[in-house]
Amino acid sequence: MAPSKAGNGFAVDLFEYQARDLFEAHGVPVLKGIVASTPETARKAAEEIGGLTVVKAQVKVGGRGKAGGVRVAPTSADAFASAEAILGMDIKGHTVNQVMVAQGAEIAEEYYFSILLDRANRSYLAMCSVEGGMEIELLAVQKPQALAKVEVDPLVGIDEAKAREIVEAAGFRPGVAEKVIPVLMKIYQVYYAEEATLVEVNPLVLTDDGDVIALDGKITLDENADFRHENRGALAESAGGLDILELKAKKNDLNYVKLDGSVGIIGNGAGLVMSTLDIVAAAGECHGGQRPANFLDIGGGASAESMAAGLDVILGDRQVRSVFVNVFGGITACDVVARGIVGALNVLGDQATKPLVVRLDGNNVEEGRRILAEFDHPLVIVVDGMDAAADRAAQLANQAPTAPSRSCDEYATAK
Ligand SMILES: Nc1ncnc2c1ncn2[C@@H]1O[C@H](COP(=O)(O)OP(=O)(O)O)[C@@H](O)[C@H]1O
Ligand SMILES: [Mg+2]
Repeated sequence: MAPSKAGNGFAVDLFEYQARDLFEAHGVPVLKGIVASTPETARKAAEEIGGLTVVKAQVKVGGRGKAGGVRVAPTSADAFASAEAILGMDIKGHTVNQVMVAQGAEIAEEYYFSILLDRANRSYLAMCSVEGGMEIELLAVQKPQALAKVEVDPLVGIDEAKAREIVEAAGFRPGVAEKVIPVLMKIYQVYYAEEATLVEVNPLVLTDDGDVIALDGKITLDENADFRHENRGALAESAGGLDILELKAKKNDLNYVKLDGSVGIIGNGAGLVMSTLDIVAAAGECHGGQRPANFLDIGGGASAESMAAGLDVILGDRQVRSVFVNVFGGITACDVVARGIVGALNVLGDQATKPLVVRLDGNNVEEGRRILAEFDHPLVIVVDGMDAAADRAAQLANQAPTAPSRSCDEYATAK
């Protein structure tokens, strides 16, 4: 799913084990699961659960299975070995600090279900498919006909009639549909009662015994509702909750969301940063499919310090190969931003090794450019115009040693 903003009064993504616990609290059928941060505690957890277990990396990113972060462990010794292999692993730029040892399911079929806030339509949207397991982004592209989308009236929610409409739209066969309906109603209870903006279950499975169980869960909570829920802060930050980069950003009051690409993005104002993501993704199509590595908004009244903190966060992301600093000087003038860049690079010294494409415009732009020209840092490239700067940043990311190289045409046909 699209990323959500961590911290700063927007939204917070939970780990799978936290989602599992909330599911259990609201009566969604789940299997036993115990979180562990060492192989030894994983072994004990497997003993406690008994029988076949599955050791699962706890990182806030999908596709853990494909990345080798989900392993079947027939014995507790296997659980130890699997935890040893998975802990410390890097999955799409997220380091695995914890695993969940889950009871193993005998899976007959895998389905997909999610409910999310549909801001554009001022409503909720339920998505459901009898073809689960694969990532929803892929499903939506490769088999759009297999993904049912049903609008849910926020005043009514998912009652039995709505749940029936959803399973019928998704094409469940009658016997299974009757079992899925009550589960969808419970999942909606999680969404509603916890004030989430997203609850996704992928896969929702039918077991060999004929039970319908949520085998994987993703929950995004609305932080604006935190004051109505006890222990929310603890939930968000428990046991190393936030990714290190997210935590760093949060401490500095930056709006940061990690994405999967290679072009680090930093800008002032959410709207500008959003459109920067779009143009970098578009420019990237001509440069080996490079994509934005993050969303980072240092805010409208950004200071030199926040620019320095933002650069520090982005340069700390191992997936980043180039950085695009896109600033429109308003309340914060361009010279302040330029000083922030100079300050950050001075502090980082030799640790800064990635090229920085800087586009400045607006209030005091001449002074900002003069400061950067005088600084004359080998990694800083000032480019006029947003499109040209995005193109340059994507090109530099593509030229980095490990980047795949494809031409624009090749990329277009490969898509
Ligand atoms: N407890 C479990 N028992 C058996 N198989 C599981 C279990 N958890 C996950 N799997 C299998 O691993 C796949 C990937 O796991 P999942 O939790 O969906 O992680 P991700 O979506 O990050 O890849 C699932 O589609 C399922 O086939
Ligand atoms: Mg999954």
